[in-house]
Amino acid sequence: RVLILDFGSQYTQLIARRVREAGVYSEIHPCTTPIDELQAMKPSALILSGGPSSVTDPDAPAVDPAILEWDIPILGICYGMQLLATLLGGDVVPAQDREYGRAEVEVIEKSPLWSGMHFQDPVKVWMSHGDKVMAPPEGFTVLARTPQVDVAAMGSADRRIYGLQFHPEVVHTEDGDQILRNFLFDVAELTPDWTMASFVETMRDSLPTLIGDGKVVCGLSGGIDSTVVAVLLHKAIGKQLHCIFVDNGLLRQDEGEEVVQYLRRHFDLNLKYVQAQDRFLSRLHGVEDPEEKRKIIGHTFIEVFEEEAKEIKDVQYLAQGTLYPDVIESVSFKGPSAVIKSHHNVGGLPERMQMDLVEPLRELFKDEVRKVAVELGLPDFLVWRHPFPGPGLAIRVIGEITPERLEILRKADKIVHNELMASGWYYKVWQGFAVLLPLKTVGVMGDERTYEHVIALRVVDSVDAMTADWTRLPPDLLGRISNRIINEVKGVNRVVYDVSSKPPGTIEWE
Ligand code: XMP
Repeated sequence: RVLILDFGSQYTQLIARRVREAGVYSEIHPCTTPIDELQAMKPSALILSGGPSSVTDPDAPAVDPAILEWDIPILGICYGMQLLATLLGGDVVPAQDREYGRAEVEVIEKSPLWSGMHFQDPVKVWMSHGDKVMAPPEGFTVLARTPQVDVAAMGSADRRIYGLQFHPEVVHTEDGDQILRNFLFDVAELTPDWTMASFVETMRDSLPTLIGDGKVVCGLSGGIDSTVVAVLLHKAIGKQLHCIFVDNGLLRQDEGEEVVQYLRRHFDLNLKYVQAQDRFLSRLHGVEDPEEKRKIIGHTFIEVFEEEAKEIKDVQYLAQGTLYPDVIESVSFKGPSAVIKSHHNVGGLPERMQMDLVEPLRELFKDEVRKVAVELGLPDFLVWRHPFPGPGLAIRVIGEITPERLEILRKADKIVHNELMASGWYYKVWQGFAVLLPLKTVGVMGDERTYEHVIALRVVDSVDAMTADWTRLPPDLLGRISNRIINEVKGVNRVVYDVSSKPPGTIEWE
């Protein structure tokens, strides 16, 4: 495995993903992790990330200098390279001004880092830095430069330590993948053996040992993460697994049943479908505030889930679909960022229930979970299902939630879903859905004046939901969706399209 030591760069996760895409397992740890802990993880190489600090600052984050005595290949990227240069006795000067964006690198020395690359022309790379390395440490060679930076890459083949001033993990860096692969395979001599097939196999072998003959309870939400957790566990421990699907009355039309039916048909699972619609809807009666809605739904979920889990008796473990980004968020060098919306689905559940957690996906990124799902033979409609928020349609019925308003939204939403599917856009966009607005407008139908609800259409492109842009759907498709909603959904006489990006908007309206 490769350990990535994080100095707070916005690109740290990207480094981890690129390394994994190359077939090598990687993990992110804070730069402050003591060396004995790092050594206990038995890594084959280290990568030091970039970061916003300046190495010339007395409080600059650093690593234990003892890692330089450890005979292990190291790649420093941006801040990581400046830190290596400083610790090894090179010369780093603070910035006059910062350099951001594209730069052209000229390779001036042969190196294993450049294996398989051809350099007739300068390489276009992505730079984002303030400080500069002026002179490399003793024993290091300058491998590349740019018009602004004398030391754009440096290395010591003897010590297997390299530094890059630019970011190979960013797509804007030409041959960035190749450079990272060269470090992994030529310098560190690793073997690419991290595949989702091997992950599934490892889980099948390790979960039974971990769990013994204990019982595990798992909440199914209809989304891909909890479904993959359930199928992985089912394959590993069979009937020791008990799944609970809570219908909170806030699901899309047919969505919950679809997944449950699929699982029942294909796997011999203990699966209980709990009808809790009334309890949720009565608690939400008259509530308009989005965070209040989330709180009520979260608490009610815990209550229902706890009651059901008690019925199973002697359950020792709670399975959750925690993913790697959630894990890193809590150990991150930067600390968690500000809460814009409270996104937890099962907040507080583990502490309340006093069970041990089983989190088979805690090492995976979302795209890897999808690959595991494919590996497990799950169908496209599950693998490529759009994300759906835990509070469900409650945060898409803006304002008060009533059974009637939910029904209007469900019908409109189904049309959006069907039209996106029929036109092939469903699989191209990140999310697409309808929102019911808390206002009425005037229209005319036949010769009659109408005074009815407005539906907003929200369709966005995104890679990780952190940022998003509204999808440029063809006008004909927009027209068809609008016509169908107005004609087929009683109570709606107007459809509008949301053309806000995130930021400053968010994907959901509440
Ligand atoms: P926003 O609206 O913050 O959404 O741009 C980003 C992503 O998160 C989903 N989302 C939620 N998911 N519980 C969830 O499990 C929530 O309360 C919640 N709010 C938003 C949203 O659908 C999008 O994919």
